[in-house]
Order: sequence, then C-alpha cells, then structure tokens
Amino acid sequence: MTIFNNKSEIQDHISKAKSKGATFGFVATMGALHNGHLSLVQSALQENDVCVVSVFVNPTQFDNVEDLKKYPRTLEQDVALLKTVSNSILVYAPSVEDIYGGNTKAEHFSFDGLEFEMEGQFRNGHFDGVGTIVKRLFEIVMPNIAYFGEKDYQQLAIIKKLAQKYNLPVIVKGCEIFREDTGLAYSSRNSRLKPDYRNAAPFIFKTLTTAKVRFGTKSAKEVTKWVETQFAKNKFLELEYFVIADIETLKTVKRKSKFKTYRAFVAAYADDIRLIDNIALN
Ligand code: PAJ
Repeated sequence: MTIFNNKSEIQDHISKAKSKGATFGFVATMGALHNGHLSLVQSALQENDVCVVSVFVNPTQFDNVEDLKKYPRTLEQDVALLKTVSNSILVYAPSVEDIYGGNTKAEHFSFDGLEFEMEGQFRNGHFDGVGTIVKRLFEIVMPNIAYFGEKDYQQLAIIKKLAQKYNLPVIVKGCEIFREDTGLAYSSRNSRLKPDYRNAAPFIFKTLTTAKVRFGTKSAKEVTKWVETQFAKNKFLELEYFVIADIETLKTVKRKSKFKTYRAFVAAYADDIRLIDNIALN
C-alpha cells in the first residue's frame, strides 16, 4: 500500500507506470470507507492493472459548514480496510492546500440542466464543488476508467456529462448500490445515526421497493403521493423529496412513457443526518 499526499509525487509515479503500459482504475472518495466504496474498488481491481483510491473531504461541495466539520475523517482505518482488499492499491490523500493552493473555491459548471434537479435544489453549489474536485482528480490521476456509485445517481450523471463536455480521456462507469441485509444503502453517514434512527433507516429502501411495484400500475403522481403519506407516518424520518425522474434528463416525470426509463429518488433526514437512496423503476 503506497500513500501519496502530494499531487506531483503521485502524478510522477502514475506517468512512469503508464509509459510502461499499465492501466489505471480510479475510485474517488471522501473517506470513512465502507463496503459500498469497497465494491467500487473491487471493480477497479478486476478491470485494471492498478487501482487508485483518493481520500479527500472536499470543502467546496459542502453548502453547510457544520456538515463539513462533522464529516468523519478516519484515514488510518480507511487504509487498514483497503489493505484487506489488496496491498497494491495506491492511496492519494491530499491536503486542501495540495488541491486548491490558496484558493479554496469551486469553479462554475453547466451540466445542461442536470445540476438543477433534486440535490441541486437543496444543496446550493454542491455540483460545482463536485465538478471542480473530480476534474482536478482526473487530471492528477489520469485514470483509464473511473468508478462511481449509483447511490449518488445524479452525481454519476453529472460526472459522465463533465467527461463528455471537456473531452476527458476517461471512461466513467456506474456501479450498483451496495446494501446491507436490511436493504439500507451503505453510507459514511450511517455510522453517525443514533440507534432509533439506525433502526428506522431501512424504511427508505423498503418504501422504494414498494413504490417500484406500485409504479407498474399507478401513475407517477399517485406513487409520489403514496410515498409522501408513508413518510408522514414515520416519526424518525423526515422526507425532503421523493421524485420519479427520467434517467436521461433527471427531470420529474409528468406522464409515463413506455419508451423512457425512470428511477425513483429519495432524500430524507434521520434526525440531523441526511440520507439519500434511489431505485430503477423499469
Ligand atoms: P463518497 O460519498 O465518499 O462516495 C465515493 C463513491 O462511493 C461515490 O461514487 C459514491 O456513489 C460511492 N458509494 C457510496 N456509497 C455507495 C454504496 N452504498 N454503493 C455503491 N457505491 C457507493 O461521492 C463522493 O464521495 C464525493 O462527492 C466525491 C465523488 C469523492 C467527490 O468529492
């Protein structure tokens, strides 16, 4: 396991290996690693000669200072977990200075409207921050294939758009959501849930799976109403949004078409912890 804190050192290392023909898979993370992250790492290891994992809590994608402060930082544990998968992973754990120099600001991007839907309505500037960090990480790591989870489906769509718009020489691959046996999607935030909220959280996926069944025979509007009613009855979870969207545009569906593909998206608060999840509907 080699850990780099400095972009020129890892760039140098990767350039040398690439000139000898090695291929690189990349998994970008904010650390506090869990089995969801590891599933991405497994895919990267299977399909490339070398896997690079970045661990960096990116300040420019947080619209809430408290959330940024409270975000778990567990590098030693993260490295130990990665070692259980493979000893040959390259870890890039830069400082804010190494990425942003003296200017910790997001660049502004247009993602053809994808950025205005769902998360974009509730997390101001979030996708500018994500675009900024991912573009910089791609420039440093120069991966052949980069792996992102469908857990953050809108982020995945935006990163695909980023690569396409800037002609970045990388294949962006989406990976399925990795879940606990209860159905709860693994998330770095789960470890902060108090017991009652932790027990309540699998309700999110349970409701999504029933919504999927209902979507077979009911309209998007009816399914949305049903989901909202279910959440209103749950005293541990507060629904922020439930949206059924077209996977191409991420726009909320008005009228179902059998020629389109849809997904349902949820954001909900368990106490002060914001959880998101989604499911393919057809
Ligand atoms: P983070 O939340 O650490 O997630 C890193 C990657 O792991 C993302 O691609 C995310 O979708 C994926 N992931 C998280 N939970 C998952 C699960 N249960 N199953 C499958 N994949 C999962 O997303 C970010 O970090 C940041 O925004 C980042 C892209 C690193 C930019 O800072």
